[in-house]
Amino acid sequence: MKYINTNNVQVFTAGTHLPYWVASTEPIAYTKLSENKKTDVVIVGGGISGVTIAYCLSKSGKKVILVEDGYIGSGETGRTTAHLVSALDDRYYDLEAKFGEANAKLIAESHIAAIDFIERTVTAENIDCDFERVKGYLFLHPTDKPDSLDKEFEAAKKAGIDLEFTTIALGDNNHKALQFNNQGQFHPLKYIKTLCELIVKNGGEIYTNTHAKEIDYTGITTNEGFNVSAQSIVIATNSPVNNKYMMHLRQYAYRTYVIGSKIPKGSLPTALWWDTGNFEANSEIAPYHYIRIQKFDDEHDLLIIGGEDHPTGLADAEHILEEDRYTLLEKWGKEHFPQMEKINYKWSGQVMEPMDSLAYIGHNPLDKDNVYIVTGDSGNGMTHGTIAGILITDLINDKKNNWREVYSPARFKLFKAGKTFFKEFVGGFVSYLKTKPKHLDNTGLKDIKQKEGKIIEFDGEKLGAYRDENDDVHFVEVECTHLGCIIKWNNDEKSWDCPCHGSRFTHQGEVLNGPANKPLRHYSQHKDFLTNI
Ligand SMILES: Cc1cc2nc3c(=O)[nH]c(=O)nc-3n(C[C@H](O)[C@H](O)[C@H](O)COP(=O)(O)OP(=O)(O)OC[C@H]3O[C@@H](n4cnc5c(N)ncnc54)[C@H](O)[C@@H]3O)c2cc1C
Ligand code: FES
Repeated sequence: MKYINTNNVQVFTAGTHLPYWVASTEPIAYTKLSENKKTDVVIVGGGISGVTIAYCLSKSGKKVILVEDGYIGSGETGRTTAHLVSALDDRYYDLEAKFGEANAKLIAESHIAAIDFIERTVTAENIDCDFERVKGYLFLHPTDKPDSLDKEFEAAKKAGIDLEFTTIALGDNNHKALQFNNQGQFHPLKYIKTLCELIVKNGGEIYTNTHAKEIDYTGITTNEGFNVSAQSIVIATNSPVNNKYMMHLRQYAYRTYVIGSKIPKGSLPTALWWDTGNFEANSEIAPYHYIRIQKFDDEHDLLIIGGEDHPTGLADAEHILEEDRYTLLEKWGKEHFPQMEKINYKWSGQVMEPMDSLAYIGHNPLDKDNVYIVTGDSGNGMTHGTIAGILITDLINDKKNNWREVYSPARFKLFKAGKTFFKEFVGGFVSYLKTKPKHLDNTGLKDIKQKEGKIIEFDGEKLGAYRDENDDVHFVEVECTHLGCIIKWNNDEKSWDCPCHGSRFTHQGEVLNGPANKPLRHYSQHKDFLTNI
């Protein structure tokens, strides 16, 4: 979907709110694919995963073609907060219980290696992307058990993470915290912009505004009918658009919210902070707060605070609508970071939570051996996407890699999924079914406000209707093009969101997030039509 950024430039991003990263950079645009092509590897998706994979493969001597249907970084990579961490969203004591001690070590090793990879690349290629090594502080949420930090210290240490106990002051309170050393942060779009230039320098090709409509083991076909045939196919679309069922039963989509506030320069150290999550929230995955500092201008830094997550399309299960989540973040922010004054940026994005907390990187299950996916970022997609660059390159080049098994998308040990997945997945689905009959918003077409969407019955047909700022009305079909669940209106990002597996669509039916890969049927009516009904 096209928007205009603060420099009056057209950008693509998956929502109406412009993230700081998108607002502060020029779009990373290439030409549209306009002929048939043949290559070693075709990569679909121009976020950190697709770009890193293309970079690593091109560096290893493979001829690559990357296609992206918006601009580079117009998916979740442009909507992130870009903490680079080995202090994962999921606790090491939990990963150890699910995967065992040896695998917990491999997981820690892979994230440490991903941050090292980014640092090495930034240094070697002289990339101007605000990369910094920083410390990260994990402190207890009041609803969490007091021994949770002790358990995490033991498990993380065993896994090979460099950490220690400390005390931090936030607002009026001191908090016992775990200090994770050697974490990192950067500006994600500045980083992948240079990786793209290096891909092209290595002989690769990049096409933006190019949608992969059909995908199979021979290659891809675009909306315009152009074909890229390849020996290997990599789908890096965040939620895999080539895998209709299997992967979407193993992960769950969450919306997450961010505010950015200018604060006096140097008034806070450049660091990362996280609380351990609200265990009283109506969600099996305790939503937590994540905070960082970004250089802004000569007088200010930007304090970036995220959190208030909920399963996509189900914000109302907690009776807190999408657009009200920023107020909660602001309240929490002011209590913990009194340096904060007003909100200068706000945006939301989507993370994919895998059933056992770890990303899926490798062969696409039940597909030919030459088709690969990366998905299930688990809120750590900057490092998971980088791990994908290293791992998928090794898989394609037939090189041994110790991370292969632990990240395999085919892994499936039901008992290891834990109650979290079942409660969230089954609970989410039950909640979806409960709200389904109410989906008809019981509103007449004329009662829909400007910039609002409702599901209405019109001429005997259930339709999604959106009234734009000129009073023109845009209708979409209400069945998601992935597997037919009924979409719900997200009044915050002005999108139609699917509660089943996280597909999202614009008011004109264009896909914002997969797994849907086909738009909703759409038609628009001039505002005069409202006076005639
Ligand atoms: C608010 C927020 C905060 C986060 N904070 C952090 C953090 O601090 N640290 C961290 O590690 N992770 C974080 N994450 C997660 C991280 O941002 C994501 O996991 C990561 O950006 C995903 O990258 P990706 O390349 O896999 O997907 P994306 O960046 O979404 O890229 C996929 C691309 O595929 C394209 N595409 C889709 N379908 C097609 C098609 N058919 N044809 C062509 N192109 C297609 C899309 O346009 C998109 O650009 C955060 C996420 C959010 C939303
Ligand atoms: S995302 Fe699967 S049915 Fe909508």
